[in-house]
Amino acid sequence: MRLLIWFSFLAISLSHELPSTFQKCPRKGPNFSQCSVKAVENAVRQLTRPIKEVGLPVIDPLEVPSMTIAPGNGPTKFQQNYKNMKVWGYSKGQFSKFDFDFGQKTVTLDVLFPELVFEFEYDFNGTILVLPFQGHGPGVAIFGNKLRFLRNFFNFFPEKIKYFFDFWLEEYTRGGRKYYRVVRNRLVMEPELIKFKFDNLFNGDKELGDKINQVFNDNSKEVFGDVKSSYEEAFGQIFTNIFNRLLARVSIVDLFE
Ligand SMILES: *[C@@H]1O[C@H](CO)[C@@H](O)[C@H](O)[C@H]1NC(C)=O
Ligand SMILES: *[C@@H]1O[C@H](CO)[C@@H](O)[C@H](O)[C@H]1NC(C)=O
Repeated sequence: MRLLIWFSFLAISLSHELPSTFQKCPRKGPNFSQCSVKAVENAVRQLTRPIKEVGLPVIDPLEVPSMTIAPGNGPTKFQQNYKNMKVWGYSKGQFSKFDFDFGQKTVTLDVLFPELVFEFEYDFNGTILVLPFQGHGPGVAIFGNKLRFLRNFFNFFPEKIKYFFDFWLEEYTRGGRKYYRVVRNRLVMEPELIKFKFDNLFNGDKELGDKINQVFNDNSKEVFGDVKSSYEEAFGQIFTNIFNRLLARVSIVDLFE
C-alpha cells in the first residue's frame, strides 16, 4: 500500500486549549471512560467544519486526494488507484468504547457508523475473479446496512459498520510541556454490506460495465476481504494523522480536566 499523506505534520511550539465546544473529562474521575466516549463522539460530530486552532480538518466529508491499494492475493488482481476521494458519514460515528490506558499509553476506540459513502475517481486495470477488466471514471462505494432502504423509512434498523481502533502513544516534552503522539496504530473495519458502482468501465461499454459491476456486487465480501488490510492500513494512517495534529497542539494537561 502506498498512501499519499497530505496532512503535513506541523510542530507548533505553542500549546492550545481544547475548543470550548469540546467536553473535557476528569482524568482521575471514576467515570472517565463513559465521559470520554461521549466527549469524543461530541467532538467528532463537530468536524463537519475545520477547527483550525487545534489542527482538526473536516472529516465529513473526509477528503483523500489520492490513494493506492495494492492488488490482493485472491479475486482482486489489480491495483486500485483512487483520486479525489470524499468519504461521507464519519461525523456520525456512535462510540461504544473509549479506553485510555495511561500506564500502557494506549487508546482503544470502538465506533459504529450508520453508513459510509465513498465517492472517488478510480483507475483500474486487471482481473476480478479472473475476468479481465479496465476502466477509469467516477465511482462510489457504500458501506451500509442490508436494510438501508427500510431504515430510511422507519429509522430503527441496527447500523452495522464498525471501526475498531488501537493507538499506541509516546510522550515527549516540548517547551516544558508534555505531549502525546501516536507512534503505532491498528484499525479493523467491519462493514456488513458493501455496494460498488464504477462508471465508465471499458471506456463506457455499458453491457460489459454492468456485468463487471454485477460481479463486484455479487462478490463484495470477497472483493473487500481480499484488500481489507490495505484499506485498514490506509484509513488507520489517515485517522492517526488527524489525531496527531490535535495531540501536537494540545498538551496532555490540557486534554483532560
Ligand atoms: C459513575 O459510574 C458509576 C458506576 O458505573 C455509576 O453508578 C454512577 O452513576 C456514575 N456517575 C456519573 C456522574 O455518571
Ligand atoms: C491494462 O494492462 C494490460 C496488461 O498490463 C496492458 O496491456 C493494457 O494496455 C492496459 N490497459 C490500459 C487501458 O491501461
